[in-house]
Amino acid sequence: MVTLETKLGSLKLKHPIINASGTFDVLEADKVLQADLFNEFPFAAYVPKTVTMQPRTGNEPPRLYETAAGLLNSIGLANKGIESFIAEDLPRLASLPVPVIASIAGERTDDYGRCSEMLAGREEVAGIELNVSCPNVELDGKALGCDPGRTERATALAQAATSKFLIVKLTPNVTDIVELAQAAASGGADCVSVINTVHGMALDPWTLKPVLGHTTGGLSGPAIKPVALRAVYMVSHAIDLPVIGMGGVTTAQDVLEFLAAGATAVAVGTASFRDPLPGARLAGELVDLMEVRGIDSVKELVGRA
Ligand SMILES: Cc1cc2nc3c(=O)[nH]c(=O)nc-3n(C[C@H](O)[C@H](O)[C@H](O)COP(=O)(O)O)c2cc1C
Repeated sequence: MVTLETKLGSLKLKHPIINASGTFDVLEADKVLQADLFNEFPFAAYVPKTVTMQPRTGNEPPRLYETAAGLLNSIGLANKGIESFIAEDLPRLASLPVPVIASIAGERTDDYGRCSEMLAGREEVAGIELNVSCPNVELDGKALGCDPGRTERATALAQAATSKFLIVKLTPNVTDIVELAQAAASGGADCVSVINTVHGMALDPWTLKPVLGHTTGGLSGPAIKPVALRAVYMVSHAIDLPVIGMGGVTTAQDVLEFLAAGATAVAVGTASFRDPLPGARLAGELVDLMEVRGIDSVKELVGRA
């Protein structure tokens, strides 16, 4: 008998599949999909879109472009700001039957502490994910997550502000992702997410100008799966924290591989644009894949590679 239950530190998950921030808006999906999302939620936890201290309008359109095996996006962290998120969204997200992991980012290092403090007393929030891929004004627009010292500091500020389960979501756009994972661990993270999107660019074949309004963007989807799998493998061997793996996960076989590479939970992002409710389906298919391999639990599977 296969059991899919897994523990992400203090968070108990029904199965190991969650959604990736910014790719599935349950409040919008609830308006358009014929599904009872507030009773039968397909993912084992819900991670909303990243919010920042101030609302952000995001980057110039076009913001999305489909590539041969992935998706380029330059959304630019468009969001309503943390105050509106807390006032308008959190009370509605409270009725989801799964843990809610809020995602925050800062244009300044201190923002991570301030946003965490604002969420600290909210019962609806089970965990906080620090998205360190936001352009940082103190680093001339470079992502804070490229700098180990600032990543450690942002994590420590968040850690001091809240006792919530703290996840740091790492960017792959660095020379050595392990160094950044170690910085997050030193700062007091309870978990790391691996990986955010990979820097990329596309040209219009006729005009030969950049397709995206922002010129460059972040690549996601199947194209980045091998990059993500390696990152999960390296990070999970280097630090003693649970890892959430993501990057191109589309099938149950992908989930199986990310768990074997060392992830304790796996997030689905870009694949949700084709099938918006893949969590429960992938969990069912994962049971079959584990059964034929004689693997009874997620615990037995994690880190097999
Ligand atoms: C359109 C889009 C928007 C995204 N927005 C966010 C975001 O707000 N916060 C964040 O941490 N990651 C964001 N991501 C990154 C995803 O959460 C995920 O880390 C990445 O896309 C890799 O997973 P995937 O290949 O399954 O999409 C976004 C990705 C896409 C495609």
